[in-house]
This record gives sequence, structure tokens and C-alpha cells, in this order.
Amino acid sequence: MLYTLARPLLFSLDAEAAHELTLSALQRAYDLGIARWVAKRISPLPVRVMGLNFQHPVGLAAGLDKTGAHIDALGSFGFGFIEAGTVTPRPQPGNPKPRMFRLPRSHALINRLGFNNEGADHFIDRVRQQRAFRDRGGIVGLNIGKNADTPIEHALEDYRMCLRRVYDDADYVAVNISSPNTTELRSLQSVRQLAALLTGLSDERKSLQDRYGKRVPIAVKIAPDLADASVPEIADRLVEHGMDAVIATNTTTARDKVRGQKHADESGGLSGRPLTERATRIVYLLARHLQGALPIIGVGGIMSGADAVDRIRAGASLVQIYTGFIYSGPQLVADCVEAIRDEECAVSSPPGPTRPRA
Ligand SMILES: Cc1cc2nc3c(=O)[nH]c(=O)nc-3n(C[C@H](O)[C@H](O)[C@H](O)COP(=O)(O)O)c2cc1C
Repeated sequence: MLYTLARPLLFSLDAEAAHELTLSALQRAYDLGIARWVAKRISPLPVRVMGLNFQHPVGLAAGLDKTGAHIDALGSFGFGFIEAGTVTPRPQPGNPKPRMFRLPRSHALINRLGFNNEGADHFIDRVRQQRAFRDRGGIVGLNIGKNADTPIEHALEDYRMCLRRVYDDADYVAVNISSPNTTELRSLQSVRQLAALLTGLSDERKSLQDRYGKRVPIAVKIAPDLADASVPEIADRLVEHGMDAVIATNTTTARDKVRGQKHADESGGLSGRPLTERATRIVYLLARHLQGALPIIGVGGIMSGADAVDRIRAGASLVQIYTGFIYSGPQLVADCVEAIRDEECAVSSPPGPTRPRA
């Protein structure tokens, strides 16, 4: 309700300015204890994925809380998990503004932020200050990337550095190799480069596991623009190198569904409604090939409870939202959980729920 009232004002501002205003207002409401009144109470729908117990399967996708400073405030909207980041080893400003655009007719966004963030040291300090969401059982994923000025041949060093920095404070780590806004980043998804990256990451994890006495799950986030044929190949590499989940998908560079609309020709990644079909298809291709070997976190164009159910039916164990949250507000979290709950009730007599239960 509150969000419905605020939305016209927010949508009259530049998209990135509105985003920053919303985050700081949320943070303020949270700090003053007001967020409690609007926070959604969602009854649990437990699910165990990557060895972690999620209170329910609906999370916030990476990119909304890039600095890790708003985990508790955003957590008060009822998310089962929050993925903060993408963080890079060193601070960087991202691309020149304007770099975020709304396409309201399609309930979509285009962004080319380019991993604007304050660097891993600052990020982890902020994450450590945020305890309330986790103390209530919320799961926190930390999403890592590479600096724009690190040559792609040295990408592994950036990912290793970030992994070391975030390891002890993450419930899971997400490895982002699929943002379209960092030059050549997506080439890391090619079979040869992926194998080298994953070998390095699992070596690094082994030594971190010895050092901290715990194995933190790693999920790899892939693009929707991969050719269908390369999806099973990527899935095989992830299993082979002991990864714990695949996150599908990031934003798309395709524009076929928004052609002719204002801002459609801006470069960057398109998210929201135009992504629904392709992101669902990638989840379906992964699930068909993996046959349960690796859990799938479904993200991209989940704009309603029905979309969340479709993504679970396609094979996801968890779902994440971003653009839907911008267009519909916190109600979408509850809608998704309730739609998944209804679906599970409907199929709960034999053969039983397909999601692994906590
Ligand atoms: C403004 C914006 C910034 C984003 N930043 C990141 C990021 O830093 N790291 C990342 O892995 N994904 C990032 N994403 C991608 C989202 O996490 C998500 O994968 C994508 O938007 C598709 O989901 P949606 O259609 O629900 O938005 C970003 C998306 C948007 C719209």
C-alpha cells in the first residue's frame, strides 16, 4: 500500500536517483524502527539447499545492495535470503551516468552500472555490522566479481582475492561471470576459461576450508544469452569442479521484446518482464540436464507469484527477484511465497513435493 503511494513519485525521478533515495529511506525507516510496521510477516516454507536451511525459497537478487550496507533493512521485507554485491577487490566508480533506465510499458529496466562499489574491505566491514537478518534465520549470499581494469587473463586473481575476503562472512558465495557491463566478463563462461576459473576457485576454497574449518557453498551465476547447446556443457563443468549451485540468470543483452520503446537502445543488461521466458528456459535446460546433480536458483523476470511457481516447476529450488521488487514492492515477496506454498499443497499428496525439505 505504502509502496503503491510512493511509486509515482519515485518513478518521476531518474532511475538511479530513485534507487538511491529508496534505499536510504528504507535504511532510515529501519534505523528508526518504523520498518517493523510495514514489514511482511511470512510464515515459513522451509527448504534446504546447498546444505543451508532457508526459511522460504524467495530471495533478493544481487545488485540492489551492492555495498552490503542494507542487508538488515531489506531483510525486514520478508526475504528468505539476500544476495549482496557484486563486490570487486578494489573500489571502482562504475560507468558514467546515466546508466539505469526504466521501460515501464514492459515492466523492465536496463542498467549498465558496471559494478560500482566501494571494494571488498569496505563491503565486508558493512556486512559484519548487519546481524539482525541473520539472527532471525535469514541467509546471506555474497556476490563477487572482478575490477573493470583487471585484464581478463587475470580475472581469477580478483575472484580469489574476493573469495578470501568474503569467505568467513558468507552463508554462500555467488560468482558473477555473467554481467554484460564489464568488458569480456561473459567470456569466462566459455568451456576453457570456465574450467580454469573453477579449478582456481575450488583450490582456493580448499585452503579456506582448512583455515576456517567450514565449507562455504559456491554458486555460479550465468547469463540468459548463452546458446542452448552450451548450457549442459557449463552445467557439467560446475558439477565436475564441485560447485554447489547455479544461479540462472543475469540480465540480457537481447532487445527483441522491447524494440521501439524509449530507452530500448541503451546498452546494458535488460531485466524484468522481457526476461521471464528466456530465464525460465535456461532453468528448464539446466534441470533437464542436471537431473538433481546441482540445485538451481532461478532469477530473471519473476514479476508475480505465478512466475515464481513456473520457475520452481521448471526446476529451480530457490528463486530471486529484483526488477519485480522495484515495480511491485515488498508485496511481491509474500505473493511468491504464498503461490509456491499453494502449489506445494496442491501436489503434496503422492508423489510429494519435489523441493528438498529442510
Ligand atoms: C540495476 C541492477 C543492478 C544489478 N547488479 C547486479 C550485480 O551487481 N551483480 C549481479 O550478479 N547481478 C546484478 N543484477 C542482475 C540481477 O541480480 C538479476 O539477475 C537480473 O536483474 C534478473 O532478475 P530480475 O528480472 O528479477 O531483475 C542487477 C540488476 C539490476 C536491474
